[in-house]
Amino acid sequence: MANVGNSSHLILVLIFSIFQGGIGGSLDNIRTRTSVDIQAQAVRDLIERLLPERASEFNVKVEPGLLEEENGYFQVIKSPENTTVFLQGSTGVMAAWGFHYYLTQLCHCQVSWDADQLDLPVILPEVSVRITSLDKFRYYQNTCTFSYSFAWWKWPRWEREIDWMAMNGINLPLAFTGQEIIWQRVYLGLGLKQEDLDEHFAGPAFFAWQRMGNFRAWGGPLSDNWQQATLILQHKILERMRSFGMTPVLPAFAGHVPRAMERVYPNASYTHLTSWLNFQDQYCCPLFLQPTEPLFTEIGSRFIKEMALEFGSDHVYNCDVFNEVRPTQADPVFVSSVGTAVFNAMTTADPDAIWLMQGWLFKSDADYWTADLSKALLTSVPQGRMLILDLQAELDPQYIRLNSFYGQPFVFCLLHNFGGTLGLNGAIQIISQRVIDARNFPNSTMVGTGLTMEGIDQNYVVYDKMLEMGWRDKVPNLNQWFDEYTVRRYGVNNTAVMSAWRFLQNSVYNDSSRRSFRGQYVLVTRPALWQLPFVWYNPHDVILAWDHLISGLMTEPLLSNASNFRHDMVDLTRQSMQEIFHLLYSQLLEVYLEKNSTAIEGIAYKMIDLLQDLDELLQTGKKFLLGKWIADAKSWGTTEGEKLQYEWNARNQITLWGPRGEIRDYAAKQWAGVVADYYKPRWEVFIREMQMSLDENRAFNKKAYETLVFSAVEEPFTTSTKHYSDVPIGDPIVKVMTLYDKWRKIYQQDSKSLSTKARKLWRGQSLPDDKAKSAKIKQHPRKQPLSTANKTPPIFPAQ
Ligand SMILES: *[C@@H]1O[C@H](CO)[C@@H](O)[C@H](O)[C@H]1NC(C)=O
Ligand SMILES: *[C@@H]1O[C@H](CO)[C@@H](O)[C@H](O)[C@H]1NC(C)=O
Ligand SMILES: *[C@@H]1O[C@H](CO)[C@@H](O)[C@H](O)[C@H]1NC(C)=O
Ligand SMILES: *[C@@H]1O[C@H](CO)[C@@H](O)[C@H](O)[C@H]1NC(C)=O
Ligand SMILES: *[C@@H]1O[C@H](CO)[C@@H](O)[C@H](O)[C@H]1NC(C)=O
Ligand SMILES: *[C@@H]1O[C@H](CO)[C@@H](O)[C@H](O)[C@H]1NC(C)=O
Ligand SMILES: *[C@@H]1O[C@H](CO)[C@@H](O)[C@H](O)[C@H]1NC(C)=O
Repeated sequence: MANVGNSSHLILVLIFSIFQGGIGGSLDNIRTRTSVDIQAQAVRDLIERLLPERASEFNVKVEPGLLEEENGYFQVIKSPENTTVFLQGSTGVMAAWGFHYYLTQLCHCQVSWDADQLDLPVILPEVSVRITSLDKFRYYQNTCTFSYSFAWWKWPRWEREIDWMAMNGINLPLAFTGQEIIWQRVYLGLGLKQEDLDEHFAGPAFFAWQRMGNFRAWGGPLSDNWQQATLILQHKILERMRSFGMTPVLPAFAGHVPRAMERVYPNASYTHLTSWLNFQDQYCCPLFLQPTEPLFTEIGSRFIKEMALEFGSDHVYNCDVFNEVRPTQADPVFVSSVGTAVFNAMTTADPDAIWLMQGWLFKSDADYWTADLSKALLTSVPQGRMLILDLQAELDPQYIRLNSFYGQPFVFCLLHNFGGTLGLNGAIQIISQRVIDARNFPNSTMVGTGLTMEGIDQNYVVYDKMLEMGWRDKVPNLNQWFDEYTVRRYGVNNTAVMSAWRFLQNSVYNDSSRRSFRGQYVLVTRPALWQLPFVWYNPHDVILAWDHLISGLMTEPLLSNASNFRHDMVDLTRQSMQEIFHLLYSQLLEVYLEKNSTAIEGIAYKMIDLLQDLDELLQTGKKFLLGKWIADAKSWGTTEGEKLQYEWNARNQITLWGPRGEIRDYAAKQWAGVVADYYKPRWEVFIREMQMSLDENRAFNKKAYETLVFSAVEEPFTTSTKHYSDVPIGDPIVKVMTLYDKWRKIYQQDSKSLSTKARKLWRGQSLPDDKAKSAKIKQHPRKQPLSTANKTPPIFPAQ
């Protein structure tokens, strides 16, 4: 290959000392190289961080298990004659998992994304257990989580998350931070110029999709400051993960290259990708280098070498060649040659490489990925050298259709959330059962469980349940499990609170709809006529849960100080107000059909008032603040320009998602600031157009409305620099009580007087009359395969 970098010789020599393993290798190769002493110390440090005052009551030891404990074990002993708890595990992660087991199952505590409940008994409870892990791996993260949730995290937040990972037995996490600087080195080494990269790298809020080849440059370019700061951060992240004995998964080359590659290497064969979701030329369509090109191996191996030199490697690499991109030929022979080429690029640099692949393609494009074609890809590399993530196995498992991925090991993953949207939902019964079914599948090649949500910080109960399935071999009695969950979460045993959760358990958390598109509620999508709320439960159950949570507080004042309770009061009130908003919207449509302007005015007043109240509610919750998201983004900037760029990245991702609203509201956030200055004014513009159309006796002017709402609300919101508090304002309990008093009464009246038509709409059952035909049927935007994106009609109207 022309233009081979001048330092490649040196790199090869150094690489040899990094990759000491011989040729070959298999899943057995995925193991920690960290000494047991370092791992034990990592766990002691974790306990010190979490429980500074009680840390001396825990003793930690890391020791390999028996032969039959090859998946790992933990042991927890607290005997009557000893005041300290003895924790032992086959790795640091396993010992930390044992610690968490003790905290949650014996001490009834909780460590969650929302808050901690660490009120340990003065005398620590006695126990003696030794638990063997049921699978080899617990995997964590989706390539999108880095953008939707981790985009602005600095070390303290990462440190906390890695502690949480260890405590939940996670031993196979993605580690995708700081990779752009490696790509930069590789491409500059191949003869590209910095300008070429400036029109390639996306901004920090959009890395995930640029890395996957969906688009380029949107939100960019990247500053030197960013590159250097994230390089340092990634070193810390990897060091900590490895100290616990985890195996961090690093990125690998999947074929997406900057456009400038065609200028520098004109003779290679590229596919010119069509626009993803109608991104305009300036931001769309990077090149896809054919994996069978020698240049592919060159780039792929250079990247791994460069990365390993900087960060070291644990031999597992994530590579998704066909994530929403179809191969150029639907031919098993061709697909197999692509698989071989991708694997060769990895093994050229690291002979022990294991290819970890998100199995999204088999699900999202199942008709295309027939058994034959899938088999060709899955068997293109030796058995055990590919690890498949069955990405949404809880809803739509692929291991059955594809016969345990034709012998390749797979991880059963829960893909519960898209875009980091808020909204109570989950399929807790189904999740628990299906993990067990997958393990028991005849000749199952399942080797792990995983969490592959696009965004965290929502519905913690679902994740808590899934993580426990790593050591549970039976579905526990769910009523009892939920009761115990409330005790762990709030530190209080209260019947009313348990009743509240029973209503949630049997409604929002008992989803069996199999629809994976969640969180795009009427309230947070661009207002339109005839939207059918997506509800699989009776919204009244949510209101009853709200009643019971509040009566719990009345009977148990201690709850007002429990931080998880304070969080859930805000979250459940938010959900209840959203249900009431849907109800008002149903009434609004009905009176609009009746052309009753007076009635519209009354309902509109309530809707806008509700949004104002909702914003004030969210201001009281630590986890519901736009101000925090923006402050975190700006904290990365060293210049005014950089701060502006990051703030705009942060605002765009959660609203327009693209210059013209290409994936508008996909990552919607019911956060203080977004509700008041984005959702509320949008509803005002919408209602005004409704009223005007009645006054002027004409149809609703959709086009004029959409133009106006874009120019008057949506776009200005993304470029605004209005300041929002990054700490809560006011007391959540006080605020909730005021709002409950007000909105529970309104709900009582309005739900009683609801007409049959409006009720059907509210329950998501049917639209009135013929409106169903024109209803906007929402698609999961990322379901559209790239190669067909141009043929399908745009999901969102161009501005
Ligand atoms: C208590 O446990 C610690 C650590 O496991 C151990 O070193 C010590 O000997 C134990 N003491 C007694 C009295 O069992
Ligand atoms: C591309 O191929 C042509 C014709 O074979 C050759 O003349 C040219 O030197 C090649 N260019 C590069 C950059 O390899
Ligand atoms: C499982 O594997 C065994 C041994 O290879 C084979 O005999 C059996 O038919 C397989 N069972 C199924 C259901 O595939
Ligand atoms: C709650 O308290 C009751 C009465 O003391 C007890 O029977 C029950 O087991 C407790 N529940 C949990 C989950 O701790
Ligand atoms: C929960 O959902 C299942 C279907 O998945 C259904 O059979 C069951 O009745 C539901 N439970 C409740 C309490 O609604
Ligand atoms: C709640 O916490 C505050 C301050 O931490 C304390 O003053 C108050 O007494 C606590 N209330 C209850 C009910 O425990
Ligand atoms: C319009 O709505 C108002 C308020 O709900 C109601 O009093 C009035 O009767 C309605 N008018 C008609 C024509 O239905």
